[in-house]
Parts: sequence; structure tokens; C-alpha cells
Amino acid sequence: RKGKTPEEVVKRYLQKVRNPPEEDCTICMEALAGPSGYKGPGVGGISRAESVGRLAQCGHQYHLQCLVAMYNNGNKDGSLQCPTCKTIYGVKTGNQPPGKMEYHVIPHSLPGHPDCKTIRIIYNIPPGIQGPEHPNPGKPFTARGFPRHCYLPDSEKGRKVLRLLLVAWDRRLIFSVGTSSTTGESDTVIWNEVHHKTEFGSNLTGHGYPDPGHLDNVLEELKAQGITEEECLPRD
Ligand code: APR
Ligand code: ZN
Repeated sequence: RKGKTPEEVVKRYLQKVRNPPEEDCTICMEALAGPSGYKGPGVGGISRAESVGRLAQCGHQYHLQCLVAMYNNGNKDGSLQCPTCKTIYGVKTGNQPPGKMEYHVIPHSLPGHPDCKTIRIIYNIPPGIQGPEHPNPGKPFTARGFPRHCYLPDSEKGRKVLRLLLVAWDRRLIFSVGTSSTTGESDTVIWNEVHHKTEFGSNLTGHGYPDPGHLDNVLEELKAQGITEEECLPRD
């Protein structure tokens, strides 16, 4: 996808709409049949005939110009997410700063998982300088509480979650840079949209075990980031 213009990227995922319906574009709130309400840089030159597009998989329709503006506001990784239903087109990536993810099995059981050992994941991210993909490029960011230790049961489902978390790490989706809702600190490394259990033998913070729904919740959260087992199988 590298080298493609934002308009080319967006068009890959669109089908043509000859007669726009009498509905508003939910990005700019203007009629689909009329011009885009978005007047930003880098969205000129789109002809009347292709002013509206339909996202190929979910069918939601928007002004092409609005989708291009939305794409330009993100991290421009070649992927697009429908703002209505969150369907992901292409491979979604995040802005997690550089660091390390390691894991190993420890010979103890988690509350609620008496029949198996435990996987411990160790995330380590050092502080650094924000890049263009972060809220304040050029400004330093802090990294609190690292290394962060997280726990999964070493069961079949727990190992599946681990495999998908490794994919999420590679796609920079486990952490982000922003304002911590726990401490209020800005320009710091924070958990992204995938919940982790950081307590081992107790549940004082609500981020511990037992929690019977945890693995299924994490699988749902990973799916919302475009990460599923099916999608990660090798293809030929
Ligand atoms: N363990 C796991 N997840 C947590 C924790 C925690 N102790 N605290 C918050 N979260 C979850 C929240 O439920 C939310 O979904 O992380 C998400 C983002 O919360 P923030 O407070 O913005 O994230 P962050 O500042 O990274 O984390 C707060 O988590 O691992 C610890 O050391 C870390 O004390 C820090 C705390
Ligand atoms: Zn949609």
C-alpha cells in the first residue's frame, strides 16, 4: 500500500454509487446527493461522478471526500474503518511506541483456572519522543509501571488469546500514547482497547482473577481491532 495517495487507498475499498440515496453522510452531516461539508487540505479534485462511495463489505455510504479526510486524520497505514459499524478494510495498525513483549509459563494456577498453569506476559516500553503518529509530535512521553506483567491461563483458549496478542503487538495495538484515565497524566504510554489482567493471585483492582468472561471479552476486543484466528492463519 505504500506510495498510494490517500484517495487511492480509500477507493480500493469502495464501490461506485451512481444515484446517492436521500440520506445524509454521517461524517459531515450533509446530504449525500450534495457536496461534502468537509473543506480541508488535500481533498480537492474529486469529480462529481465519484463523489459518493459505498464501502464494499458493510455497504455504508459516504462522500468520498469525507472518507479521504477521515483517512488523513488517522495514522495513514493503508487501512480504513467504517465509522458506522467499525468494519475494518485492510490491516489496522496503531501507534504503540517501540518496546518488547515477552512471555513464559509459570507453574502456578490462576484463581478460577485450577487445572492449568499460567502464562505471564511481560511488556516493556521505555519513555521516548513522540513521532508524527502521536498526539504531540516531538514532545517526550513518559512510560509508567513498566515492566507491566499480565496473566493468562495456560489453557487452549488462553494460548489462543496469547497468539492473537502477539499479532496485536506486531500491529502496535496493545498500547498507545495519550492521557491516562487512572492518573490523569498526559503524554504517557497507556493501555489501548484490549484488556489485560495485571493481578495474579487476587483481584483488588478489578484487573485480576477470577473473571469467567475474561478470555471471551479479550477475543471480542481483538476482533474489534481486526484480529481473529481465521484472519491470522497463513494463506497461499
Ligand atoms: N491493569 C490492567 N488494566 C488496567 C489497569 C490495571 N491496573 N488500570 C486501568 N486499566 C485499563 C482500564 O480499564 C482501561 O480500559 O486500561 C485501560 C486504560 O486505562 P488508563 O488508566 O488510561 O491506562 P494506563 O494509564 O496505561 O493504566 C493504568 O495500569 O498496568 C497498570 O501500571 C499500570 O498503574 C497503571 C494502570
Ligand atoms: Zn459500515
